[in-house]
Amino acid sequence: MGFDSRFFAIAEAELNRIQQKNKYLSETRLEEVKLKFPDTYALRTKIAGTCARLLSVIAETGGNTAEKLSEIEKDNMALRDQLKTSLISHGLPADYLDPIYDCKKCCDTGIVDGKRCSCFMEKVKAAASSEMNRSSPLSLCTFDEFSLSYYDDTTPTPLGPTARKIMEINLKACRKYAEEFHLPYNGMLLRGRTGLGKTHLSLSIASAVIDKGYNVIYGSAPDLLRMIEREHFGNAPADLDTLGMVIRADLLVLDDLGAEFDTKFSQSALYNIINDRINASRPTVISTNLEHNELSGRYGERIYSRISTMEELYFTGSDVRVKKAAEG
Ligand SMILES: Nc1ncnc2c1ncn2[C@@H]1O[C@H](COP(=O)(O)OP(=O)(O)O)[C@@H](O)[C@H]1O
Ligand SMILES: [Mg+2]
Ligand SMILES: [Zn+2]
Repeated sequence: MGFDSRFFAIAEAELNRIQQKNKYLSETRLEEVKLKFPDTYALRTKIAGTCARLLSVIAETGGNTAEKLSEIEKDNMALRDQLKTSLISHGLPADYLDPIYDCKKCCDTGIVDGKRCSCFMEKVKAAASSEMNRSSPLSLCTFDEFSLSYYDDTTPTPLGPTARKIMEINLKACRKYAEEFHLPYNGMLLRGRTGLGKTHLSLSIASAVIDKGYNVIYGSAPDLLRMIEREHFGNAPADLDTLGMVIRADLLVLDDLGAEFDTKFSQSALYNIINDRINASRPTVISTNLEHNELSGRYGERIYSRISTMEELYFTGSDVRVKKAAEG
């Protein structure tokens, strides 16, 4: 899973629901006024008339448009005042027939100045957090669900200590990282073969930091880069700004670096992401199956030099997925 278009779809649906709800509420109010207070309703109809006149004057070219416009404008203002007075006289609020919006900034469109409104991003975040907190497989990815019993405690690894000892240190480091999360903060590189718990601990960090109230983006490198590429080439359903969000998030958890399609585009997007975040002292937690020589070979000096300065936790042991499957 991760941060993907589903969360945007959920936010869009939520926005749609709000628009419907407010539209219904407006219509109900208008109907109510029409039935109970025909005088007020007549004023409201007249205002709609001046708006139509305004539009037709704008449509006409030539003539003394400005003069006509200001005349209509004046009428309109006077009518609006009368409407307010009339509503108040019936014991209703002055703005009772105004359009109703949950968000005054974007009028529930989700967009201000061509960018996603903060209310929309709140909805995306809420969807992402609730996904992480719901009884999905993700909710199992917490520090408490991370068991050290899957790592061998008898044979020393080439690094010296046993796999369990090493993973115990890694678990502690991840917990501490999440507990002490603040801004600015350092990043981390979780590195090791597949099935050793990198994604599990990445998600544990993401949910713990979300719980602290930070804006966290968790996503696998293939998912995030695919979305960014789609948006860049205009193939996204809406004017999403995943790249901007990924760069600006308080914490970016970039899972499975190296699993993405290796293209010029993905490399340059990655460089921008990693570089911009480091320059702004915004932390990134990266997980990868790649060895250091593979990282430097694949990403080149520019990106590798950034990644290699991050604190590294090396994951060792044998595939936990296999062990869990054997347990049944
Ligand atoms: N120490 C652990 N305790 C419990 N479950 C684990 C542990 N390590 C991994 N898992 C589980 O095993 C599976 C594979 O782990 P994952 O984190 O995806 O590995 P990686 O990302 O390193 O390839 C996941 O379902 C994960 O929840
Ligand atoms: Mg993984
Ligand atoms: Zn808004």
